[in-house]
Amino acid sequence: MLNLGRTRTQPRSGRSLSLGGMDYADPKKKNNVVGKILLIATVAALCFVMLKQSPSFNTPTVFSRHEEGVTHVLVTGGAGFIGSHATLRLLKDKYRVTIVDNLSRGNLGAVKVLQDLFPEPGRLQFIYADLGDAKAVNKIFSENAFDAVMHFAAVAYVGESTLDPLKYYHNITSNTLIVLETMAAHGVKTLIYSSTCATYGEPEKMPITEETKQFPINPYGKAKKMAEDMILDFSKNSDMAVMILRYFNVIGSDPEGRLGEAPRPELREHGRISGACFDAARGIIPGLKVKGTDYSTPDGTCVRDYIDVTDLVDAHVKALEKAKPSKVGIYNVGTGKGRSVKEFVEACKKATGVNIKVDFLDRRPGDYAEVYSDPSKIKNELNWTAKHTDLHESLKTAWRWQKSHRNGYGVPLLTSS
Ligand SMILES: NC(=O)c1ccc[n+]([C@@H]2O[C@H](COP(=O)([O-])OP(=O)(O)OC[C@H]3O[C@@H](n4cnc5c(N)ncnc54)[C@H](O)[C@@H]3O)[C@@H](O)[C@H]2O)c1
Repeated sequence: MLNLGRTRTQPRSGRSLSLGGMDYADPKKKNNVVGKILLIATVAALCFVMLKQSPSFNTPTVFSRHEEGVTHVLVTGGAGFIGSHATLRLLKDKYRVTIVDNLSRGNLGAVKVLQDLFPEPGRLQFIYADLGDAKAVNKIFSENAFDAVMHFAAVAYVGESTLDPLKYYHNITSNTLIVLETMAAHGVKTLIYSSTCATYGEPEKMPITEETKQFPINPYGKAKKMAEDMILDFSKNSDMAVMILRYFNVIGSDPEGRLGEAPRPELREHGRISGACFDAARGIIPGLKVKGTDYSTPDGTCVRDYIDVTDLVDAHVKALEKAKPSKVGIYNVGTGKGRSVKEFVEACKKATGVNIKVDFLDRRPGDYAEVYSDPSKIKNELNWTAKHTDLHESLKTAWRWQKSHRNGYGVPLLTSS
């Protein structure tokens, strides 16, 4: 908040220089007046800048008009890992993009990279807003002509969700309701929704198809399933085109090294295996702890399906292109191939060139042995298959960015290789 200090009616000395409503040209007073004018001008300029940054600033722009041949996509969570990569791909493919993000987890640095790559007017705008604020969201939709929404914004850590479940139901389920209601109110007809394999829980039969029953076992998976259910119920009586993509474990980063994954340091403890692996390689943590070596898997460690972010955003663009009014498409986005934690760790050692210390511990309660997808539906219907399936290559690409961005999107560092 701005503190304007003392008001005009309370001069410092308590002595008024005004006689009979007239101000004398006292030099001290003159300085005072000039100072006040300067202060007011500064405050006015500041207010203008703040207002312009706020979604409530009502200036019609190219973003507020539909344009023949241009698809304007609202990317929620576009400052985050997957959202920023999706924005890059959309901009490369000539889409117009508006990012809405509250920067609770994402990075303004990622938005800056994108803005520098696509500085032309009408390509990309960033709006700082919280999707939990229905009024702000409504205003954003009334001031912008969106053709489609890619709804990435979410808190997304299984461990954190068990410690703070209400945060997850609020941020995922309730915010998706706001996005959906606002889309309906403003006639935005296409939704691509970021869901997760965590909605399946621990199915007995592998691989997981879209028909596999969903029994999520943690608040993250449950909140996403509830959001899916709302979308599906709504779509029964709506002509909205809906695509629900259930991602498996996302890794990698932009092959050209412009974007990467930079989660908040305080989220490290909830982090994903690739983050932990890079932190160990950089010596931020002493090593990796592999929990469970006696699962009924080929090498006894858990098996997961790792999907490269470049392939994942390709699936989004294909989903957007193939979305049809009144139709819902639900797709698993994975490679179809399970990789063990041991395999992952070896690929990570090779990619980073660091002999990461690994401790093998007992199982962690709640972990399931094997999760991998059957991606044949998305192949058959959207003509999508994962291409970046070499774990070592994906990790090498991500490591290159990590190594040259030791402070995330803070200050880039120059490295020798
Ligand atoms: N990363 C994975 O392995 C994975 C796997 C399955 C599904 N997903 C889903 O993909 C999506 C993106 O995940 P990510 O890994 O890029 O996460 P991320 O944390 O990097 O990005 C999420 C972004 O959403 C923003 N955000 C969160 N709450 C918001 C709010 N209330 N208003 C506005 N912005 C808000 C954050 O600031 C952040 O920029 C999420 O929906 C997640 O559930 C991710």
